[in-house]
Amino acid sequence: MIAVGSDHGGYELKQAVCEYLKSRQISYEDYGTYDTESVDYPDVAAKVADAVSKGVVKEGILICGTGIGVSIAANKFPGVRAALVHDAFTAQMAREHNNANILVMGGRILSAAEGARLVGIWLDHQFEGGRHQNRLSKISATEQK
Ligand code: RB5
Repeated sequence: MIAVGSDHGGYELKQAVCEYLKSRQISYEDYGTYDTESVDYPDVAAKVADAVSKGVVKEGILICGTGIGVSIAANKFPGVRAALVHDAFTAQMAREHNNANILVMGGRILSAAEGARLVGIWLDHQFEGGRHQNRLSKISATEQK
């Protein structure tokens, strides 16, 4: 299950991402926002990141205008690795090297087609482990301090 959330700046891209997940028959839950009324991005970031952090869902997708705000907010939650991606390379690396459990995008940066493509790349690649796991373990150790 993937938790999907956005603020108003990411609403349109979130809708496109939900359509894309539906087209691939990937189960997801829409954590809002549900229209283009202005909302505060930390609120939706907290809902999705808390669900990932607690293991309620395996992964999440977060979108705000730039992707920056929800990234900052989501990465405050233990065990969350939220990665802001802009293109095919960063989407692939977010999975292969960073094992990102939340994919973040900017709704005012990417088109619907580009955003859906990046979600597909992130979903279709695997974490490489090895030296990358050692690095993630160092991040976890920092979190424990
Ligand atoms: C909202 O206007 C905008 O600040 C937000 O979507 C996001 O870009 C913040 O980082």
